[in-house]
Amino acid sequence: MATQISTGASELRDITKMERIGAHSHIRGLGLDDRLEPRTSSQGMVGQAKARKAAGMILKMVQEGRIAGRAMLFAGPPSTGKTAIALGMAQTLGPDVPFTMIAASEVFSLSMSKTEALTQALRRSIGVRIREETEIIEGEVVEMQVDRSLTGATKTGKLTIKTTDMETVYDLGTKMIDALTKEKVTAGDVIAIDKTSGKVSKLGRSFARSRDYDAMGADTRFVQCPEGEVQKRREVVHTVSLHEIDVINSRTQGFLALFAGDTGEIKPELRDQINTKVAEWREEGKAEIIPGVLFIDEVHMLDIECFSFLNRALENELSPLVIMASNRGMARIRGTKFRSPHGLPVDLLDRVLIVSTQPYSPEEIQEIIKIRCEEEDVTLAENALAVLTSMAGQTTLRYALNLISCGQVIARKRKSDRVEVDDLRRAYTYFMDEKRSVQWLKEQQGSLMFEEVEDEQATNAMDVN
Ligand SMILES: Nc1ncnc2c1ncn2[C@@H]1O[C@H](COP(=O)(O)OP(=O)(O)O)[C@@H](O)[C@H]1O
Ligand SMILES: [Mg+2]
Repeated sequence: MATQISTGASELRDITKMERIGAHSHIRGLGLDDRLEPRTSSQGMVGQAKARKAAGMILKMVQEGRIAGRAMLFAGPPSTGKTAIALGMAQTLGPDVPFTMIAASEVFSLSMSKTEALTQALRRSIGVRIREETEIIEGEVVEMQVDRSLTGATKTGKLTIKTTDMETVYDLGTKMIDALTKEKVTAGDVIAIDKTSGKVSKLGRSFARSRDYDAMGADTRFVQCPEGEVQKRREVVHTVSLHEIDVINSRTQGFLALFAGDTGEIKPELRDQINTKVAEWREEGKAEIIPGVLFIDEVHMLDIECFSFLNRALENELSPLVIMASNRGMARIRGTKFRSPHGLPVDLLDRVLIVSTQPYSPEEIQEIIKIRCEEEDVTLAENALAVLTSMAGQTTLRYALNLISCGQVIARKRKSDRVEVDDLRRAYTYFMDEKRSVQWLKEQQGSLMFEEVEDEQATNAMDVN
């Protein structure tokens, strides 16, 4: 098993990248120009110039592969764009550099230890770019013939493929037939089949057939019939993360665990083997390490054990860039009695590049609201925009952004597509912001359960464990 380390790369592609939607879906990058200067409003990003620039500089270092085992902390009040900037960084990095995002509280789980969860997150953020030779079958389909068994359960068939120089007939099994049918392969298509994974890709239609059909879609691409052998060796490059290699090679889990997300703990010996193997590949020039980024949101929720583990992990040669975000000021470090800036122990803080985020100016808030309206497809009346901006000033940006869609629902009820000031006023009365909620609690005077607001000592004692 030691030598047989598989990467299973071709299957992985589709399942590891997830589209993020929701509160930050308008963020498409950091909005920096070539000289890393922040544009006033670009790629969905507004203001927060210093932090964006700092983020851009760090990214530049990541992309040049010069930075590993460093850490960076976004510190600032709630809704000042810490998460948004981190996501902007993820988008700028492109698909080949791994970016993992976790919320610190995800680390606490019953199915694995805290350090295992952190290790998995760290290894998810290290990419291995692997060069592999695979065998492919490439050519123009001359004929595809399928025979079904009486029940239709099994299919057999024959596929005739040609190049300009030769023609070959292949026997097909059920799986291959399904793959070909899914791609809607017909005679005259130029296709490529990856022999190891069985993946079929349609390259286009052969020029020779261009006159056969009049009713072809405008998007039909015509290509030359390939030359030479039908079977070719080709070098492919793909990137997988260390964690993916871990899971695929762990005997108890296997590849399917990646779909379920239920990977359990992975044995340290296996990780050692994989590290050794990857080091070997690097020496042979077959693989390249791409240090990516691990983003830990709400990092003050980690406890002292996690922090000391991180401290150590950052010294590892195979460590990604760790970005953290915290909205705490002087806060207690979880698991201890001690208070520390941002809720992080000082020895960790010492290694960290700290970037602060500031509250937004009214103009910036207005711009962000405008962008969100576009994103959510909401039309806001001119004066409603002004009102919402001032609401954001009095409450928080996030609260105001939440009111956009509430306003729209209310506007629709009176059969209008435009959100007016009145709709926002209504939404404002329906939903409390944090300040009014606190006020309301005070007015309730203890009629709700578990109230210990007055007793600061008691709350502190409670969350020590
Ligand atoms: N500079 C910005 N440009 C555009 N949208 C922003 C910006 N900063 C914050 N937002 C948006 O405001 C909301 C709150 O910001 P968020 O990043 O969640 O704050 P934090 O993580 O600091 O608490 C999110 O919907 C976010 O996308
Ligand atoms: Mg956040």
